[in-house]
Amino acid sequence: MSERQFSVFPDLDTLSEAAAQYVADSAQRAIAERGRFTLALAGGSTPRRLYQLLATPSWRERIAWERWHFFLGDERLVPPTDKDSNFGMARDALLDHVPVGAAQIHRVPTEAGDADTVAARYEAEIRDFFGRSTNERPRFDLVLLGMGSDGHTASLFPDKPTLEETERLVMASPPGVLPPPVDRVTFTFPLLNAARAVAFLVAGEDKRPALRAVQAGLPFGDAGAAPAARVRPVDGELRWFVDAAAAGSEK
Ligand code: 6PG
Repeated sequence: MSERQFSVFPDLDTLSEAAAQYVADSAQRAIAERGRFTLALAGGSTPRRLYQLLATPSWRERIAWERWHFFLGDERLVPPTDKDSNFGMARDALLDHVPVGAAQIHRVPTEAGDADTVAARYEAEIRDFFGRSTNERPRFDLVLLGMGSDGHTASLFPDKPTLEETERLVMASPPGVLPPPVDRVTFTFPLLNAARAVAFLVAGEDKRPALRAVQAGLPFGDAGAAPAARVRPVDGELRWFVDAAAAGSEK
């Protein structure tokens, strides 16, 4: 199981620059080794800066975009045009501004039906994309994640049955305490922990207690370890890009 590597940055801009470098390096390595780069994007507000940065000329021109494939690690059951769509955020910040074709963008098919149907459909798409020829789980080259102040990650919320899944790769996740009150679908630990690399992007003082618990290996709240602490790729890298406010180290 991978060890966590924490890096602390003064603010979101420096964190996002370092994350952009990490994503670009991961892509280069994956493309050299396997000819393509499979990236699962995170929703939430923290990664927006990273996505915008990758679309700026100095990054955009250095990247072999035609080899990238984009997925979403979780999504709300809203249309892609909705302001709460994770895909919508990624499209506005990044995908609309870089030369990628529709076949490279694998958004969650939120129009397919209820959350269970959507989750099953997305899992089938992921399995088809990675190939069903082996029993091996699909392995993303890189999964980006955030963490909520309650320790959730993707749409894996504390004390919910989704945390105990061992087979399915994508599951429905009922609305939790977070707005908006809509169903979601989420990658599960079996899929996250099969990844070649996972990178958390965590910013803001409200994340400090959960981050402390993750770093110290302590329980958080009443339900054992924070969901984010249970992301431990079996055979992959685990990076945490954290700002000083979350780390509690600002001057
Ligand atoms: C979402 C996310 C969620 C997010 C965290 C942190 O759908 O919102 O995927 O898991 O990453 O809630 O969000 P912030 O980056 O906004 O703090």
